[in-house]
Amino acid sequence: MGENRLMQKLSIEGGIPLQGEIRISGAKNAALPILCAALLSDEALYLENVPHLKDVTTMLSLLAQMGVGITVSSPQKVELNAGKIDNPVAPYELVKTMRASILVLGPLLAKTGRASVSLPGGCAIGLRPVDLHIKGLEAMGAEIEVENGYIQAKAGRLRGARIFMDLVSVTGTENLMMAASLAQGVTVIENAAREPEVLDLANCLNAMGARISGAGTDTITIEGVDALHGASHKIMPDRIESGTFLVAAAASLGKIKLNGAKADILDAVLDKLHEAGAHVSFDADSISLEMKDRPKSVNIRTAPYPAFPTDMQAQFMVLNSVSEGSALITETIFENRFMHVQELCRMGAHIEVEGNAAMVRGRDHLGGANVMATDLRASASLVIAGLVARGHTTIERIYHIDRGYECIEEKLAQLGARIRRID
Ligand code: UD1
Repeated sequence: MGENRLMQKLSIEGGIPLQGEIRISGAKNAALPILCAALLSDEALYLENVPHLKDVTTMLSLLAQMGVGITVSSPQKVELNAGKIDNPVAPYELVKTMRASILVLGPLLAKTGRASVSLPGGCAIGLRPVDLHIKGLEAMGAEIEVENGYIQAKAGRLRGARIFMDLVSVTGTENLMMAASLAQGVTVIENAAREPEVLDLANCLNAMGARISGAGTDTITIEGVDALHGASHKIMPDRIESGTFLVAAAASLGKIKLNGAKADILDAVLDKLHEAGAHVSFDADSISLEMKDRPKSVNIRTAPYPAFPTDMQAQFMVLNSVSEGSALITETIFENRFMHVQELCRMGAHIEVEGNAAMVRGRDHLGGANVMATDLRASASLVIAGLVARGHTTIERIYHIDRGYECIEEKLAQLGARIRRID
């Protein structure tokens, strides 16, 4: 990341209801594991609807330095060929900026018999250990040690195993599912993550010749095969990007339509928006929302899919900050995911945090301020706060937002927001 990018800020003039239509991008959290799936085959994996994001660029750099051939034919189309992996290493310099780099561990080990992956950094939203990834691979026969900040793994051909996940882990499930695709025999993952992105990855792997059933439920069965072949796959739409724009429209009393968005993977979020007073409608390929009156506060409790996603918690905190009444937000996934609270309070929000719960008392308005982004979804919440606040907001450290939102200021400007990026 250049010095220039580190210094960029977003400048927002608040108070304009969002109006209009935009297109939703491919899902970051589906694209990242699916890019890693390319490591499992000697043949080309052709991907469409890949979002143009910092995290995707980081993953492509990580794969390229391992020896994966990468052709980007148009901004959203990427072809990967992992026929010649000569360096099965994920170095600290790349991993530290993106925790999802851990997703190379399973595929590298299954394909090349060894992997050296730096322990991840990423968002500062909690401890986020990777013990479940390691335990699962060990159950499949891998030998793993942690040395000098690196996970050093080696294995002959992995063996199928019965794996019970202590905690529901999204990337943990994905890592093990990828590794098991090339293992000898059958693997069963119990208490697997049910996130739609896990299913999108399974669909891509199956298109490559894997034999996976049960993805999208809490028990996934993978019958290992000797090799995976080339395939084409289109990345699913981003449900968190969709949810973020819907909340921005609701909080600003706007009316928007999201093209390319899917409603059936957003039930918990749409349900809360409805409870807040929004009129939501959808068809197979779009979601529309209109908010006519001041929103009503809604209680939120984050939990693994299909319950309310932790990645939407910060955005609803802003919605509640300008709603009628008070509500409790409980975060059960990450222990340190209230870093946006301080900044929102500087904009006039009334939020009290105790442990993993935040009590939000709605106010009739927020006021613009200079604020600092601390992690990806926290920065999205600050953007929404800036859009609804009276006056001018400047958000610093927006490189966090570029990790996960494609062209956020262009899309918001298309909806009428007065927003611009400044150096
Ligand atoms: C994924 C998403 C992220 C989302 C999160 C929860 C991607 C690339 N990222 O992150 O956007 O916020 O799911 O929905 O898909 N845990 C352990 N040991 C492990 C693994 C996880 O204790 O080995 C704990 C974590 O600390 C956390 C919880 O399990 O408290 C859930 O984490 P997990 O589902 O693994 O999150 P990620 O897959 O990293």
